[in-house]
Amino acid sequence: MNKETISLKDVQEFKSSSEEFFPLDWYKEMLTNNPIHFHEETNTWHVFKYEDVKQVLTNYEFFSSEGDRTSISVGANNEEGTVPDSVNVNSVDPPRHRKKRTLFSAAFTPRSLQGWEPRIQRIANELVENIAEDSKENSTVDIVQALAAPFPSMVIADLFGVPIKDQAQFKHWVDVLFQPYDKENQKEIDLKKQAAAKEYYQYLYPIVVEKRANPSEDIISDLIKAEVDGEKFSDDEIVRVSMALLGAGVETTSHALANTFYSLLYDDQSLYEELRNDLDLAPKAVEEMLRYRFQISKRDRTVKEDNNLLGKELKKGDVVFAWMSAANMDEAVFEDPFTFNIHRPTNKKHLTFGKGPHFCMGAPLARLELTTALKTFIQKFSRIEPVESFDLESNLTDSAPGKSLRHLPMKVYR
Ligand code: HEM
Repeated sequence: MNKETISLKDVQEFKSSSEEFFPLDWYKEMLTNNPIHFHEETNTWHVFKYEDVKQVLTNYEFFSSEGDRTSISVGANNEEGTVPDSVNVNSVDPPRHRKKRTLFSAAFTPRSLQGWEPRIQRIANELVENIAEDSKENSTVDIVQALAAPFPSMVIADLFGVPIKDQAQFKHWVDVLFQPYDKENQKEIDLKKQAAAKEYYQYLYPIVVEKRANPSEDIISDLIKAEVDGEKFSDDEIVRVSMALLGAGVETTSHALANTFYSLLYDDQSLYEELRNDLDLAPKAVEEMLRYRFQISKRDRTVKEDNNLLGKELKKGDVVFAWMSAANMDEAVFEDPFTFNIHRPTNKKHLTFGKGPHFCMGAPLARLELTTALKTFIQKFSRIEPVESFDLESNLTDSAPGKSLRHLPMKVYR
């Protein structure tokens, strides 16, 4: 089913792209003065506090993922671009959700993660090596274009078992398919999405057929083998599931990686050296980056039954936005929350990967990608520095997670 999309612009107009990229003042204001806010123009509720966000994400008896209005636009509205209900894991509640999630989880076992580690490391080495070769003299590198943007799509292309030479094509499809809606250009965007969905479908379908005959060690083969209560994915469903995985896992991880470097350059300039002296701190740094720098993380749910669980009269059918990145700044859980601190004892409590039945299935993969890329880079370069002329506002672009860095130049030293 294609749902009505509520775009971010409809519910919150930020003054600039930079503000949207890092809206901490707005969160502060909402957390303090307006933690449960009703937005009349769109008939939507907005919740910001940690416990309320958790309640909305976990209590599926009252807050459903099955509504017909959503803030997330996935795929395209043609035949090839639709994720049919039979494989849709995102917008279905338990108990139906459980079976679908179990089918998906065949591709995300701890064993598969272990097998992926050397593949992910090899891709990180290759990209970091290329940066090193291009910057023999100490020079400027655009870390988004050189690492953050290509890395997650190269990883997913490899884990899907499709040739790595197609990664640029992959990235293009992902960019188009998950480009956020914009009312003024809706028609044009729709057409582009439809074309990308068709191309992607035609590209992947024969690969799935071939893998059914000759399975190997990859996500597509794992999905082909997956079986719950005698149910299996058809070839057609696997192409659509893979599209959903691209949507869930590529731009999000790129965004997190680009913002990690932004943070190293602009939030805490002593951190790079600290990490270089102790690489075991990398996982902690990644968690704090996900808490502090992964912005505009929000999910919507639809009220299933009238209730007062949040202290307001919520009516059946109302849409509620749970703002995870605001909850990550709630001082009830994070001491001194507006400060970046990788040693904070609670940093892993962030809600950036969600909570409850829909908790991100790719979280272990995303964490592995982020720590691997970070460590590999840090081992290669002794120091990084911001470029003085860098202008944040003109280097941000729209992406599925919100405003993302398109370019981030920085000076690197071997
Ligand atoms: C930094 C990177 C990532 C972030 C911040 C992120 C965030 C999230 C969030 C917030 C949800 C919960 C949605 C909800 O409650 O409605 C989710 C679900 C999901 N994510 Fe991720 N994700 C990331 C990376 C990945 C990766 C790499 C994959 C796999 C390739 C992935 C696959 C999924 C899937 C399949 C779901 C649906 C789970 C369900 O509905 O049961 N994600 N993600």
